[in-house]
Amino acid sequence: MSWGYVECRGCGGDTGSIMIVLTIETTCDETAAAVVNDSLEVLSSVVASQDALHEQYGGVVPEIAARAHVERLLPVIEQALQRAHVTPKDLAAIAVATTPGLAGSLIVGLTAAKTLCLALGKPLLAVNHLHAHIYACRMAAGTEVFPCVGLIVSGGHTSLYRCGSATDFQILGGTVDDAAGEAFDKVASMLQLPYPGGPAISRVARDGDPRAYRLPRPFLRDTSCLDFSFSGLKTAVRYLITGMGPCDFTSLHLPARQVADLAASFQEAVVDCLVDKAMLALHKTGLARLCVGGGVAANQRLRDRLEQAAGGAGVELHIAPRDLCTDNAVMGAIALERLRAGRFEPLDLDIRPGLVRSSAAS
Ligand code: KG4
Ligand code: ZN
Repeated sequence: MSWGYVECRGCGGDTGSIMIVLTIETTCDETAAAVVNDSLEVLSSVVASQDALHEQYGGVVPEIAARAHVERLLPVIEQALQRAHVTPKDLAAIAVATTPGLAGSLIVGLTAAKTLCLALGKPLLAVNHLHAHIYACRMAAGTEVFPCVGLIVSGGHTSLYRCGSATDFQILGGTVDDAAGEAFDKVASMLQLPYPGGPAISRVARDGDPRAYRLPRPFLRDTSCLDFSFSGLKTAVRYLITGMGPCDFTSLHLPARQVADLAASFQEAVVDCLVDKAMLALHKTGLARLCVGGGVAANQRLRDRLEQAAGGAGVELHIAPRDLCTDNAVMGAIALERLRAGRFEPLDLDIRPGLVRSSAAS
C-alpha cells in the first residue's frame, strides 16, 4: 500500500518526505474537504455551505443535506486538491468523518472516501467529528494542547471531555436534551430571526439587556454533574413570547426592543451554563487547560466570558478561531494522529450516526 511520501509542492517548495492527507467532512450540512500535511500545515480548505438550502425550513432537512452532498462533494474535493497543488497519487491516506452526524450525510462522505481509497490504493482513516472540533484548537495553537478539558458546543452536541491525547477522549458530561446550537436555532426561529439562529441571536443580543428576563439555568447549582439541559430554557422563551397554548410564531410582531432583550437573556443563560460546567470540569479533573470548539464557540459573548473565567482561574484557554468553529475539514487533521499510529480502517467500515450522550445522561 502506498504511503504517499512526497515533496510538498503546496507549502512553499519545501523539500523532504512529507505525508499529505485529504480530509472529508459531510456530517451535517457543510460539504468540506481539506488537504493537510503531517506538520499540520493546511495546504487547502474548501467549505460549501448549505445554509441557503435549509434557510426556508429554519433548520437542516436531512434528505436535502444528503442530496446536496452528493452534488457537491466531488467538485469540493477536486478544488481542495487543486488549491493544494496536490494530485491524488500524492496522498498518504484519505480521512473522513464517520461519527456522529446525519446518517444520509455521513454515508455520502464515507462512500466517496472508500471509493477513492479503493481506486487509488490508499488507506482509509476515520475521524470522530466531535474530537475533530477540539482538534481545531490544536490546529490554531500550533503547539500541543493535550491533555485538556474539551468543550464542544455545536448544533447537534454539547459535551465535555477529558482529552488525554488526540486519541484518548473520555466523556465527562453532555446535554440530556437539546444541544446549545439547536436551542439557539429554535429560539431564533420563534423570534423570527434568520437561520442559522446562533449568529442572528448574538447580533440582536448586542442591543439587549441580558437581565431583562429571568430564565432557567438547569443543573447550574448541581456540582455533582457535568450535564446540560437546554430544552426547558427554549420552552421558557416560548411561553414568555406566546403564553400557553398553540401559537403561530409568524403572526407575532414583537417589538425590536423585546426581541433584543429576549435574545440577550437567552444567550446569557446558555453562556452561564457552558462557562460554569467547563470550569467545574477543570476543577473535577485537576486539568488546567480548556479547549473549546463547535459552531456555538463562535459566539462572542461566550468567548468573552470564557476568557474572563479562565483568566481568573489561571486556566490556559484555547478557543477555535471562528472559521474553524463551524464545520470544516481542516479539523479532520486529527486523522494524522491515527496515521502516525498506523490506525487505519477496513473498507467495510460503517457510519455511526446518532447522538453522543454522557453515560450519566443516557
Ligand atoms: O459545529 P457546527 O457548524 O455544526 C454541528 O456540528 O452541529 O454548529 C452549528 C451551530 C448552529 O446551531 C449555529 O446556530 C451555531 O452553531 N452557531 C452559533 C454562532 N455561530 C454558529 N451559535 C451562537 N453564536 C454564534 N455566533
Ligand atoms: Zn460540527
